[in-house]
Amino acid sequence: MSDILVLYYSRHGSTRRLAELIASGIDRVPGAQARLRTVPPVSTVCEATAPDIPADGPPYAELRDLRECIGLALGSPTRFGNMAAPMKYFLDGTIAEWLSGALSGKPACVFTSTGSLHGGQETTLLSMMLPLLHHGMLVMGLPYSEAGLMTTSGGGTPYGPSHHAMGDNSRAVSDDEAALAIAMGKRLAETALRLANTPGAR
Ligand SMILES: Cc1cc2nc3c(=O)[nH]c(=O)nc-3n(C[C@H](O)[C@H](O)[C@H](O)COP(=O)(O)O)c2cc1C
Repeated sequence: MSDILVLYYSRHGSTRRLAELIASGIDRVPGAQARLRTVPPVSTVCEATAPDIPADGPPYAELRDLRECIGLALGSPTRFGNMAAPMKYFLDGTIAEWLSGALSGKPACVFTSTGSLHGGQETTLLSMMLPLLHHGMLVMGLPYSEAGLMTTSGGGTPYGPSHHAMGDNSRAVSDDEAALAIAMGKRLAETALRLANTPGAR
């Protein structure tokens, strides 16, 4: 089995729900399995420390997860039209992987959740692609052959899956949002396996 990393930050659970749906899409592809990981919150107080293991949910990511996996789905809530600081902080710690090209040639996708419908899903998704491009990753989106892109009245974009959660994160993931997240997971896994099984592709 080949692992595909689904790496996310989620404060209130909406991005986590999308991550789980993408993971279920990955797991539907024979030969692929999702490796779900999260990142810890960051503190503005440098002395503050937290336990190494989260109170619930998947473990925190280690850098070796990036090296070992054949593809990456990266998710963050939208914060002022951009990714949340904990995810950016984690990415800023990947200098060794950048220098060694550990991620170069691997496929990747991005996903997000927002409080408001037009509050920056696309800007967040596009900005999350930037560090992945610096790493040499092959960034993927969703094609309009996915019917949900035309019918959604919430999230779901060609730049990647998304969820409109409302200001209090009370809105459940819609059928279209879920279908697009699952489709993204399958598309990522199929591509990752093809690349991993093609000698010299990376
Ligand atoms: C500091 C901060 C900034 C935010 N900025 C935005 C924003 O720019 N646009 C938006 O629609 N929602 C914004 N939100 C709302 C979150 O994106 C939304 O609640 C999201 O669904 C949370 O995801 P989570 O449940 O995975 O933590 C912001 C929330 C916080 C705490």
